Amino acid sequence: MTSTPSTRKALRLLAVVAASLVLAACTQDPELTTLGDDLAGPEARQIDNFLQWILWICYAVFAGVLGVTIYAWKNFGIDGDDYEEDDWPEQIHGNDKLEYAWTALPAILLFAIGLFTLTVHNSLNSEDTNPINVVVNGESVSWEPQVVVVGQQWWWEYQYHFGDVDVDQERVQTLPTPDITTATQMVIPVGQEIELEITSRDVIHSHWIPSLNGKRDAVPGRQSAPWKIEADRPGVYFGQCTEFCGLSHSRMRMQVVALEKPEFDAWIEAQMQGVPLDADTAAYVDALVAGDTAAPENSQQRAIATFRGKCASCHLMEGVADDLWSEESVAQKLVAGAAPNLTHFSSRTTFAGGIRNVWDPKTGEFNQNDLAQWLRDPASIKANFTELDERGRLRGMPNLELTTQEVDDLIGLLEITGPKPSPEVIEATGVEAPTEENAQGES
Ligand code: CUA
Repeated sequence: MTSTPSTRKALRLLAVVAASLVLAACTQDPELTTLGDDLAGPEARQIDNFLQWILWICYAVFAGVLGVTIYAWKNFGIDGDDYEEDDWPEQIHGNDKLEYAWTALPAILLFAIGLFTLTVHNSLNSEDTNPINVVVNGESVSWEPQVVVVGQQWWWEYQYHFGDVDVDQERVQTLPTPDITTATQMVIPVGQEIELEITSRDVIHSHWIPSLNGKRDAVPGRQSAPWKIEADRPGVYFGQCTEFCGLSHSRMRMQVVALEKPEFDAWIEAQMQGVPLDADTAAYVDALVAGDTAAPENSQQRAIATFRGKCASCHLMEGVADDLWSEESVAQKLVAGAAPNLTHFSSRTTFAGGIRNVWDPKTGEFNQNDLAQWLRDPASIKANFTELDERGRLRGMPNLELTTQEVDDLIGLLEITGPKPSPEVIEATGVEAPTEENAQGES
């Protein structure tokens, strides 16, 4: 082949595309795909199915156009420079039948695809979910499975409201305090349609759990049309914010953990409790709440003193510092007006926007190393704007200049918040933190 400038250019482009495909295969993160056999929910399969049909139509159109092109080239093509006027095929101007055909055919195709797209899209929305019975504080209540999903820079909050709460409201700020609040991880019962009310506290994000359903934007000041997810087998399904939302957009991840109903019930029961403190420490907290200046006697009590002094102005931990925490003061302090609720921190399996493990997926041990790094220097794990903005507010976890002792004490306190998830969930949710080796793209 002669190497003209344009072929060299095309080859270079091809090399770049090939290289990026090869490099993409090296990423450590869980695969996020909306296609294939690993889909776990009826909605995701519906999308996959529909996409397959559209792809077949595209293949047919491609083959048709290519076929006509080759036919024309073979039958009417003229070779090289030495041709006579006589070699030209008969020249015509206009052909009504052909022109109608190539206008009508694409129009009909596009209309049909558009119609089916709207139908499928509409069926991905939630209608009325079937209520299920859950046990809340020892009482069986009927719950229409709805979860309020709140995006903020750069993590996802999931709110569960039991009882008579109308969550289809305009703004998340007007909702009452949820019965259960989690960060980064949504827990759902298997085989049950869950309605998601998706919104945002700051900028536009997009919630996407590809194995369960398509993506839905989280828009500040708006509650999305109810979005449906359902997992038909237990497991862990990863997701990622898919709307560019600033500095740590790529570190805004999440997982859905689908549990069998009895395990889900146990999860609810545990989430409704406060932090399991021993009697002495509980008495110590009572004394602090009453305004006494009790001196901490052990690591856990020191951790509580630190938490109340440094963490409680943004984070809620029920039974430890709820008396100090107020939505208003947090809203004044943080751009998004919310920091993760830490009451059951160690019942989750990832932190820092879903990019680090709470529990080591290999050993099952509490991941003290990453947590210590996060507490000492959050920006080394996840970039945050922790300089005060023009209104004196923060975005993300600031460096609190904690001492080694304070970090150790806090890690001890965070570890007992639990309950610890099952080994299967810990293993399945494990995310790979960048290490020296894999950061250099070893694979
Ligand atoms: Cu949130 Cu991207």
